[in-house]
Amino acid sequence: MKKETQCVHSGAYYDSSTRGVNTPIFTSSAFNYLNRQDTPYPRYFNTPNQDTVVKKLCALEGAEDGVVFSSGMAAISTTILSFAGAGDHVILLDDLYGGTHAFATDEFERLGIEYTFVGTDSDSVREALRENTKVVVIESPTNPLLSVIDIRNVAKFARKHNLITVIDNTFATPINQNPIEMGIDIVVHSGTKYLGGHSDICCGFAVTDKKKAERIRSLARHLGGSLEATTCYLLERSLKTLAIRVQRQTENAFRIAHFLDKHPAIRKVNYPGLSNFSGYEISKSQMESFGAMLSFELNELKVNATRFVRQIKLIKPAVSLGGVDTTICAPAVTSHAKMSAVERKRIGITDSLLRLSVGIEEVEDLIADIEEALD
Ligand SMILES: Cc1ncc(COP(=O)(O)O)c(C=O)c1O
Repeated sequence: MKKETQCVHSGAYYDSSTRGVNTPIFTSSAFNYLNRQDTPYPRYFNTPNQDTVVKKLCALEGAEDGVVFSSGMAAISTTILSFAGAGDHVILLDDLYGGTHAFATDEFERLGIEYTFVGTDSDSVREALRENTKVVVIESPTNPLLSVIDIRNVAKFARKHNLITVIDNTFATPINQNPIEMGIDIVVHSGTKYLGGHSDICCGFAVTDKKKAERIRSLARHLGGSLEATTCYLLERSLKTLAIRVQRQTENAFRIAHFLDKHPAIRKVNYPGLSNFSGYEISKSQMESFGAMLSFELNELKVNATRFVRQIKLIKPAVSLGGVDTTICAPAVTSHAKMSAVERKRIGITDSLLRLSVGIEEVEDLIADIEEALD
């Protein structure tokens, strides 16, 4: 099946008693255990509503098995801790989602886990290798600079050295990028973003092969970040329209990125689909299309970033991303506020950097809104 069809049909639970076309919401947290082995229980990550969304995302990502979590960070932290413990070393990109960056800097030392942050060129990953390296955590395109890493190169290097690779595929979505096909072991998502798609639920995923999924599930049972039935249902409902939403959002972002690129008040646009962007060639080789996230730097001599965000009318200043509404935020005071100012400056997250999550509206309306605020 093609992605559009998988979105609608994969994993669907057919209720033979009512023959309804939608998966029922199974509200039970207690299930009869007699004459069965794998009795469902929400924190065991094996209820019918959890299974349904996991199967759908596995189909879309080309994975064998996976776990659905109550947030993206539950998925990321549980996955990393499933494969790295005291005495191990983890390599992470420096330009990662701020929460993942903060998880490493706030908690790893206490847990006895060594770590190195590296740049997005695959050589830096190579240079960071130690004898005790166990896990490599990457993101591509990254949040918020949209840097692109050569996924196949990282996967090949990691395989050679027996390292587990984890990629955060939130920005690209399974519609635009399938890292498992490129040799990555585990794909994680903040489902709060495109997979949920309407800025109204919080959830996450880790999908991989059967053995690694079992390891992640086993730690997840202790940590307990499970997702309840009604949110699983809402997530399944959203996943049915994932492909068409993301396709439209991507088309809109492509147009807006080209508009901004030509505007005299904009200093720099970060978007993998611009031919003058550093990650353009690699993106073409590993992404189906360039995605719907972009960031840009205003020329502060012409336009002040805070004033611009206050002037914009249709586009909403909001944290989070990936919804049907177009939203904008300043990463330095939102997603990356916990990172030190020195570290932000080093990797290029300036105070005039704005991140745009492009929605499904008519693109001409969005461009008019941006143009008016710039004027
Ligand atoms: C790329 C990326 N990964 C992970 C997360 C964390 O997801 P959640 O907020 O669902 O825990 C976010 C949240 O903004 C994100 O942008």
